[in-house]
Amino acid sequence: MSMGLEDVIAAETRLSAVDGAKGALIIKGYALDQIAGQKSFEAVARLLFTGLLDNLPDESAFAGHLGRARADAFALVQYIDAGILALPPMDGMRALIARIEDGEDIETTLRLLAAPAVLLPAILRHQRGLDPIAPTHGLGHAADMLHMLTGQMTSPEVAGALDTYLVTVADHGLNASTFAARVVASTWSGLTSSVLAGLAALKGPLHGGAPGPIIAMLDGIGQPDNAEAWIEAALARGDRLMGFGHRIYKVRDPRADALKAAVKRMSAGANMLPGRLKLAEAVETAALRILQAHRPDRPLDVNVEFYTALLLEALGFPADAFTAVFATGRTAGWLAHAREQRLTGRLIRPQSSYVGPEPAVAA
Ligand code: ACO
Repeated sequence: MSMGLEDVIAAETRLSAVDGAKGALIIKGYALDQIAGQKSFEAVARLLFTGLLDNLPDESAFAGHLGRARADAFALVQYIDAGILALPPMDGMRALIARIEDGEDIETTLRLLAAPAVLLPAILRHQRGLDPIAPTHGLGHAADMLHMLTGQMTSPEVAGALDTYLVTVADHGLNASTFAARVVASTWSGLTSSVLAGLAALKGPLHGGAPGPIIAMLDGIGQPDNAEAWIEAALARGDRLMGFGHRIYKVRDPRADALKAAVKRMSAGANMLPGRLKLAEAVETAALRILQAHRPDRPLDVNVEFYTALLLEALGFPADAFTAVFATGRTAGWLAHAREQRLTGRLIRPQSSYVGPEPAVAA
């Protein structure tokens, strides 16, 4: 038995490989640094879907089809009501995505891939008392999402930073949310159900829910000189430092560097708070030193979520929406894994070891 299924191989995949010892991520034959900042989110999503779906649009047409799917997804905005707005954005978005009919075809796939980029900005604008903005024909997925959020056309550097982010998080082996999506796919439930399972698993703070609390940590620390004392106190309370540690990586998560580079590239054109990057770097240095002393037996390095927090904050997303932006990228991976599971896998049904009481034996 392995409680957290550590080291258990439960699927064969052609989609991505995570090398935890080397700190490397391969997506369909490309190293992360060959695609992050190099290929668009649309191109990477299509790459993941290749071989898994009938009638997949060709490379030149895929972005247009996804754009039309965003326009279709905008119809769901009418269901944003007080109940949806009372929920955290991730839960509100999940409730709206649940309205998409289950299916296994390319139309369902594109609708599900498009939906988060449309629904999240609409929810956030509603929360601020603003009208939602419809998708704009011809914009890329990342640029359109930012336009729907802010109402302004963003510079190519800023749209490029979100695009790099979406690509960086698009797929990552058999992580908890992808496993959840594959378990549901293995019952032949349908792609909407798989995406809902992925959303539900992603939102926890041990998985995709970490970047919001990272902003709270940076705000709590305030300035670089306070980092050591704040971190020591947090660990003394038994808290985990959000943005550090990983089940698979025993070295630095390669996605952290891809995102740090994206933060640096766009910092001039975005809403980065003065001194934010410097503060984050001081926190990172202090945290690595203190974690090493705290747990010499356990390599704990920076993970994807740390620089995600900085990047998404600078792009204008509120901290409680960060996980939903993560989901916007990861939906590509969930959909590809769900299709792969449906086509090549079998029902996932492990066993448990019963440690409860035995029935009383009749006298
Ligand atoms: N801060 C302090 N201590 C930590 C941290 C951390 N960030 N990460 C692990 N540890 C400690 C644990 O408390 C544990 O101590 P224990 O053995 O006394 O209980 C020990 O190191 C081993 O950790 P595990 O729980 O075995 O690590 P696991 O592989 O289960 O968890 C995880 C990995 C969940 C990412 C963990 O490192 C963590 O909680 N990090 C903070 C949350 C976070 O950043 N999540 C985002 C992950 S990236 C992603 O999913 C997209």
